[in-house]
Amino acid sequence: MKNLVFLVLLTACELILAASTSKPSTCTLRPLGNGRDDTDQVEAAISRCGKHGKTTFQPGEYNITRKMTWELVDSTVDLHGLLSFKPDVEYWLNANNTYRVVFIQNQASWFVITGNSFTINGHNTGGINGNGQTWWSFYGNRSRSDGDGRPIAFTLSNVTDGTVRDFRIESQPFWCNTVADSKNVIYDGMYCNATNQDGTYAGQNIVPNTDGINTYRSDNVSLLNWDITCGDDCLAIKGNSTNILAKNVTCRGGNGIAIGSLGQYVNLNDIVDHVQFENVTMLRLDPKLQPNMHSGVYLKTWTGSVNGVPPTGGGGGGGYVSNLVANNFKVDDLDSTVIHLYQTNGGHSGDAPSTLQFSNLTFTNWTGSSRSAKIVDLECSPAVPCPNMVFDSVNVTVSSGQTPSFTCVNVVSESGLPAGSCNV
Ligand SMILES: *[C@@H]1O[C@H](CO)[C@@H](O)[C@H](O)[C@H]1NC(C)=O
Ligand SMILES: *[C@@H]1O[C@H](CO)[C@@H](O)[C@H](O)[C@H]1NC(C)=O
Ligand SMILES: *[C@@H]1O[C@H](CO)[C@@H](O)[C@H](O)[C@H]1NC(C)=O
Ligand SMILES: *[C@@H]1O[C@H](CO)[C@@H](O)[C@H](O)[C@H]1NC(C)=O
Ligand SMILES: *[C@@H]1O[C@H](CO)[C@@H](O)[C@H](O)[C@H]1NC(C)=O
Ligand SMILES: *[C@@H]1O[C@H](CO)[C@@H](O)[C@H](O)[C@H]1NC(C)=O
Ligand SMILES: *[C@@H]1O[C@H](CO)[C@@H](O)[C@H](O)[C@H]1NC(C)=O
Ligand SMILES: *[C@@H]1O[C@H](CO)[C@@H](O)[C@H](O)[C@H]1NC(C)=O
Ligand SMILES: *[C@@H]1O[C@H](CO)[C@@H](O)[C@H](O)[C@H]1NC(C)=O
Ligand SMILES: *[C@@H]1O[C@H](CO)[C@@H](O)[C@H](O)[C@H]1NC(C)=O
Ligand SMILES: *[C@@H]1O[C@H](CO)[C@@H](O)[C@H](O)[C@H]1NC(C)=O
Ligand SMILES: *[C@@H]1O[C@H](CO)[C@@H](O)[C@H](O)[C@H]1NC(C)=O
Repeated sequence: MKNLVFLVLLTACELILAASTSKPSTCTLRPLGNGRDDTDQVEAAISRCGKHGKTTFQPGEYNITRKMTWELVDSTVDLHGLLSFKPDVEYWLNANNTYRVVFIQNQASWFVITGNSFTINGHNTGGINGNGQTWWSFYGNRSRSDGDGRPIAFTLSNVTDGTVRDFRIESQPFWCNTVADSKNVIYDGMYCNATNQDGTYAGQNIVPNTDGINTYRSDNVSLLNWDITCGDDCLAIKGNSTNILAKNVTCRGGNGIAIGSLGQYVNLNDIVDHVQFENVTMLRLDPKLQPNMHSGVYLKTWTGSVNGVPPTGGGGGGGYVSNLVANNFKVDDLDSTVIHLYQTNGGHSGDAPSTLQFSNLTFTNWTGSSRSAKIVDLECSPAVPCPNMVFDSVNVTVSSGQTPSFTCVNVVSESGLPAGSCNV
């Protein structure tokens, strides 16, 4: 009897020891192929190995037919293949078939990552196939609006200490990436490419809203080594984005880098603080593929009046933007104003001026060319004029050979613009 008790105790001890020293769980999967659905095996692997484990996806295309959330904790995912989200527009537009975890503009997501202390590595071959051409052609002659249900390709929501490395997103239907309600996130190596190949629409931009990323309610996010082909914002820094670093970014076509829009929600302040853009190249594409290469950096807020409700209308929100640095930009034959700040987005004449203040913006070492003679245009709100606008070596030339022009209104203090540019 004594021996038996001893034995039972020993077994229990051994079990505890085994559990505490056991290797993390590992899962390996490969595409099923033959028109089969991979969603079940992908979800099973992540539920088994997504916490304290390692999941390896062999190369190839994984057929994903419904929305997925991966909760990753203390985990590594080696994604050598592409998760291919089925090209079925009607299916995804049914609001039941996507998530609405991103508050701003009520946008939809089909794939959400949440959790902490993880790395997802696409090894430059793995990531997402958004099968965007089906979407772009479908919407080629239909109207679009924010929050209409077109899904964000890759959403990080409520993440702490997450890394995404060498990740590839082919043909995003809508925004390529979003990071929201997250902190301490590193994206190192990101490829997004929305290039229309439907000849019906040659020469038109039928890939609006294919933004490289929108950041929202997130702190300490690094966007390193990005290569974005899109028809809209290469990067869009939205409300409550703080300590954001973007370094070595190539933007091919699109509208440029946006701060905003801000102030869309009357009851929510938007704060954008300590944002740094470093080593950015903007390249114009063949106009048959993508006609627009709009601005360098543009910053915009709604007015101080409320004009309808979000996602399509809005305005009246406060907050501030400060301590922004945009350094080492090379721009290629932009369509429009290179550096543009305006606070009248979505507004009407007679609206109250915005109360969202811009301060401490620094632009240094810009080269390249623009079709617009207006190189810098700062139109700050008369309610909150802008202090400390700094320009150093912004040497963008005008493609037509015209004399570059610089304007600014409602600026409190400025340095580096040609004398007489501002009403300081
Ligand atoms: C994906 O799976 C669905 C459901 O089984 C199937 O109808 C579809 O043809 C598959 N797609 C691919 C590309 O294999
Ligand atoms: C979405 O799901 C709800 C609850 O199951 C259902 O009542 C509704 O009809 C569904 N909507 C659509 C468009 O399928
Ligand atoms: C949209 O374009 C498709 C061909 O690309 C055409 O079949 C369809 O009739 C067009 N619809 C409208 C409303 O113009
Ligand atoms: C965010 O994640 C934490 C755990 O990491 C969890 O406790 C919390 O409920 C999550 N918040 C939301 C809004 O999902
Ligand atoms: C920012 O995030 C990085 C990566 O997770 C982390 O190493 C660093 O400590 C964070 N910085 C701060 C100030 O929290
Ligand atoms: C983007 O996709 C188009 C169409 O497939 C391709 O021609 C182009 O080379 C791609 N761009 C980059 C930077 O890979
Ligand atoms: C910049 O990023 C690209 C990927 O977009 C990468 O190929 C290149 O090596 C990076 N350059 C540096 C200096 O890190
Ligand atoms: C941003 O943060 C401020 C201060 O923490 C908060 O009052 C505001 O509601 C937040 N705005 C958004 C859009 O979450
Ligand atoms: C930006 O590029 C320059 C020239 O290629 C390089 O010297 C510098 O280290 C880069 N800056 C960063 C922050 O990578
Ligand atoms: C200015 O930016 C260019 C890249 O556009 C870079 O090669 C150069 O080193 C930068 N100059 C300084 C002084 O940082
Ligand atoms: C702008 O910069 C000045 C000088 O560095 C600093 O005192 C001020 O707090 C900054 N403003 C904001 C809103 O951070
Ligand atoms: C840019 O212009 C400044 C004067 O504003 C000049 O000192 C500097 O050499 C120029 N830099 C380049 C790269 O042209």
